[in-house]
Amino acid sequence: MSRAAVLCGLGGALPTTAVSNEELAGQLDTSDQWIRTRTGIRSRHVVAPGEATSDLAVAAGADALASARRTAPVADVDLVVLATSTPDRPCPATAPDVAHRLGLGPVPAFDVAAVCTGFVYALATASSMITAGVSERALVIGADTFSTILDPVDRTTRAIFGDGAGAVVLRAGEADEPGALLGFDLGSDGSGADLITVRAGGSRQRSTGGPADAGDHFFTMDGRPVFTQAVLNMSRSSQELMERVGWTPADLDKVVAHQANIRILHAVGEQLGLEEKQIVANLDRVGNTVAASIPLALRDAAADGELLPGHRVVLTGFGGGLTWGSAALVWPDLAAG
Ligand code: UT7
Repeated sequence: MSRAAVLCGLGGALPTTAVSNEELAGQLDTSDQWIRTRTGIRSRHVVAPGEATSDLAVAAGADALASARRTAPVADVDLVVLATSTPDRPCPATAPDVAHRLGLGPVPAFDVAAVCTGFVYALATASSMITAGVSERALVIGADTFSTILDPVDRTTRAIFGDGAGAVVLRAGEADEPGALLGFDLGSDGSGADLITVRAGGSRQRSTGGPADAGDHFFTMDGRPVFTQAVLNMSRSSQELMERVGWTPADLDKVVAHQANIRILHAVGEQLGLEEKQIVANLDRVGNTVAASIPLALRDAAADGELLPGHRVVLTGFGGGLTWGSAALVWPDLAAG
């Protein structure tokens, strides 16, 4: 049998403060009704002043490690991959600090930046390092705090994005075990780089000289084209991956897609010929948590009994870059965090 990375732990963390649509409507020209009907979101969590991405990543990582220990005795992880587009600082990466604070010793630790696709990219990276024999056990975290980069007066992005972190533990195992990552489909299209962006703070703004406009430090998104591209690419990527792993849409039990908008989830479900109950959704409670979105949706679906051992599951993400990616696995018997 061939060596594979097997999912054996799952966890997550949210900041304490939840912000309801009504609260947002008290600050901005928006309404609970608009946000609910256009996005499906009711509430999102935001970090407190001074609370950083690493704080959520450490909490989610500890939760996933505890879940892995309850599922089966596991040795320490020897790799940490953190997907984030809101690192604690531009340099260095946030992952080494997270590994250190989790007491994991001198393990390799690095960040992956693919915005909302970050978790799938990180999962593919860690899985490949395990199948190549470079690592035996990996902690893969998706964590973002987009509330720290949103324009306070932009009602669209403030309605959608929330902060959070989700994490999984992978161990070396066999491809025919439940939990084995069976394949990936990954892609990008840099011609859409301006659709989801923070203009300032990188080498481009610095090299062209002059101070950046204040607004250039905020996150911006061109919602309509992003919506269309999200549906197109998550559907296509899921379909291509299913063909590669030998599944027909009828074989699929659940799709866990990036939680950006309930209308996007329904459109992807329609493209894949799925019923609504097959589409995992927790965005009503957490909003779009970027790299944390898929692992937090997994955690909530496992806790709610929606994801059951033996389910054939496709994870699919889409985000800035543009980037997209999907992963397939048979859901294992996990003790969730
Ligand atoms: O996570 C990475 C991937 N991101 C996504 O997948 C997000 C994809 N995009 C979307 O989910 C949707 O495009 C949005 C939720 C961002 C926007 O929804 P929409 O139905 O596409 O709205 P729109 O941008 O076309 O705007 C329609 C109207 C506009 O008003 P006018 O110009 O028609 O008068 C907006 O100004 O809705 C207005 N609007 C709002 N109104 C009340 C936009 N945001 C709000 C708001 N409250 N929060």
